Amino acid sequence: MKTVLFKKILIAILVLTGIFVFIPGVIALENSCIDCHKTLTPFIEEQQHFNQIRIQHLERNVACSLECHEDKVRQLATANYQQWSESVHALKGVSCDACHGGDPKQATKEKAHNFKNTTDPQSPVYYTNVPNTCGKCHPKELDNFENSTHYQKLESLQLAPTCTTCHHPHTFTKPNPEDFRNSCGTCHSVYKKIAPYDIPLTAEDLLRKVNKLQFNIEMAQQDIFWAQKNGTDVAQAKKYTDNALNTLGNLAPMWHEFNLTHFEDEINSANMDVKKAEDIVKPTTTPSKTASPKAPGFTGMAGLITLIAVFYMLRKK
Ligand code: HEC
Ligand code: HEC
Ligand code: HEC
Ligand code: HEC
Ligand code: HEC
Repeated sequence: MKTVLFKKILIAILVLTGIFVFIPGVIALENSCIDCHKTLTPFIEEQQHFNQIRIQHLERNVACSLECHEDKVRQLATANYQQWSESVHALKGVSCDACHGGDPKQATKEKAHNFKNTTDPQSPVYYTNVPNTCGKCHPKELDNFENSTHYQKLESLQLAPTCTTCHHPHTFTKPNPEDFRNSCGTCHSVYKKIAPYDIPLTAEDLLRKVNKLQFNIEMAQQDIFWAQKNGTDVAQAKKYTDNALNTLGNLAPMWHEFNLTHFEDEINSANMDVKKAEDIVKPTTTPSKTASPKAPGFTGMAGLITLIAVFYMLRKK
């Protein structure tokens, strides 16, 4: 009896630690920003549209957009909550105040909101301050970003692409290839006269190739798994895919430095590694080759069928 009780207590403790350790979002509920913002009414398409215009204006340092569209934009607080709640940041308990400031222990809006408005150049989320705000937790990315000749050139012009140019505010997901048409195209176009004009398409093409490389690596890893099961020595093949993974991992800094020059070479070399890995494991893994010798008594079955056929033909005669 005692052991049963002990087991129950142990399970309860495990479940509770599970909740607190693995789901930081539960702890984040203590946070007034989140408590309040999740109760605000959902957003209609028109309001989203206005925020989009505002964001684009902000990126071009056109402050007027806020005065023009203020009413509609202010109400976007809820939409921001919804986007954020599905992000990695929500999962890791990075709440509103981590970027916006304010006091999450205060329950009233007035007291909690002791932060500067987004359009105030002092605000931590004003677009020129965004890299430093993110950099508190992502120092490596900030470092890469600041070291780019691109960024330094732009800082003086106040026409800087920032972290949120590529990472959607609040979802902070990695960008999709087609996003670059918009995010880079707002500046790099013949209309805006900021060279190089081909940047949006080049960036789109490169990110597609990166995604393809990632897919190729995953396929090679699957083939290695099956080859290993079939008794092939996969050590060298694994080294090749590890190399490719390494190269893939080193691509993020190149984005953050806006260094697109050697990108294609890197992708090509990683794809070569994947191919070398496939050359080692592929021959043993194609289904037709593995299936036939492995099928139970294939030759025996074939023989039996021939025998039956011969008997059948003899009887017909
Ligand atoms: C008691 C409710 C409440 C609390 C607590 C609260 N907010 Fe808000 N917040 C609102 C409402 C309502 C809006 C919508 C804008 C409006 O109507 O003024 C808003 C708007 C905002 C905006 C848009 C800025 C603006 O002025 O338009 C930001 C950013 C924001 N909140 C962040 C936070 C952060 C960060 C916290 C925690 C430190 C927080 N909020 C706590 C109710 C709250
Ligand atoms: C990881 C950082 C980060 C977190 C966490 C975050 N935000 Fe933001 N937020 C930003 C940035 C950066 C901007 C400015 C981007 C822009 O203008 O498009 C912004 C813009 C906004 C705006 C529009 C600002 C305005 O004045 O119109 C609102 C509203 C807002 N956030 C609310 C929230 C709420 C509510 C939460 C929590 C549920 C939250 N944010 C969490 C970074 C963050
Ligand atoms: C308070 C700390 C904190 C701040 C501030 C912060 N982040 Fe994060 N961010 C995290 C954590 C924690 C993760 C989870 C992954 C990890 O551990 O690196 C993360 C993950 C990410 C990811 C990866 C998302 C994915 O899908 O894998 C991106 C992109 C990102 N953050 C961008 C930003 C940007 C842009 C800003 C500024 C607007 C920002 N972060 C501000 C803590 C932070
Ligand atoms: C030119 C577009 C671009 C800009 C600007 C940008 N990022 Fe990224 N970022 C990316 C891409 C693309 C990836 C995904 C890289 C990959 O997985 O290959 C990424 C990945 C990340 C990750 C995940 C890291 C990882 O290794 O998977 C974090 C965190 C991040 N970025 C933070 C930031 C911060 C902070 C800033 C601003 C200082 C920033 N980014 C600016 C394009 C950008
Ligand atoms: C807010 C405006 C703006 C946005 C958005 C923008 N850029 Fe730029 N970019 C510039 C300016 C200005 C230059 C400098 C042009 C010059 O010196 O002739 C530049 C130059 C560059 C260069 C050449 C850098 C060099 O050192 O020669 C690259 C590469 C580049 N941008 C990539 C990108 C990518 C990729 C994106 C989208 C993720 C992007 N840019 C978005 C304004 C922008």
